[in-house]
Amino acid sequence: HPDLSLAGKHVLITAGPTQEPMDPVRFISNHSSGKQGYAIAQAAKDMGANVTVVCGPCALADLPGVKMIHVQTAQEMFEAVKENYEKADYIIMAAAVGDYRPEVISDQKIKKSDETMQLRLVKNPDILAYVGQHKTHQILCGFAMETQDLEKNARQKLIDKNCDVLIGNNLFVEGAGFQGDTNVVCLITKESIDRLPKLTKSELGYKILKTMSKLEKEK
Ligand code: C5P
Repeated sequence: HPDLSLAGKHVLITAGPTQEPMDPVRFISNHSSGKQGYAIAQAAKDMGANVTVVCGPCALADLPGVKMIHVQTAQEMFEAVKENYEKADYIIMAAAVGDYRPEVISDQKIKKSDETMQLRLVKNPDILAYVGQHKTHQILCGFAMETQDLEKNARQKLIDKNCDVLIGNNLFVEGAGFQGDTNVVCLITKESIDRLPKLTKSELGYKILKTMSKLEKEK
């Protein structure tokens, strides 16, 4: 029998990178492929949920039967999340959101001139922190990609951003992180830490959703 344990539930997922433009041809971004967020979305759909994905620019095909909201910048992602988080039961923020954006977006292509140039950046809204502060019944999962002190930083993020689950991944571990089809993570809740073996991004998607469902039942 298929597992339809999320039937009737609304799941909101952020996925992919953001792009922060500096002029009409250039932007600041990161190496996120969107694969982990999409894999969670597919798992949620297969478990019977109503799924909404807010995704930054990535090369993956839209998921059939999933509401896909395409955005470019962190601010656009923030607006889309604000419009969709209230009705969600589970929220998983797997996007690699740009922390800063160019303060000014030039209308014209910036010309090459001096030997050095300065680009002033301003902070983007922290979408996960916003949802953590405003959530009511929702179960919230954040991600933390770290290059050092993974477990310590991930647990701190769980607390600071008022998450129920925090998935920590170390960029430098083989089989983890951006681009690939597998991930090596620790799954942290307020009570526990689960150091998971190498899993496919799909297997990890199911694991995250099962954990969230268990937490919801215990509430
Ligand atoms: O603090 P840090 O950016 O490392 O936290 C990562 C988590 O926060 C991820 O779940 C990411 O999707 C989310 N995030 C966000 N908005 C930001 C930055 C990160 O939702 N501006």
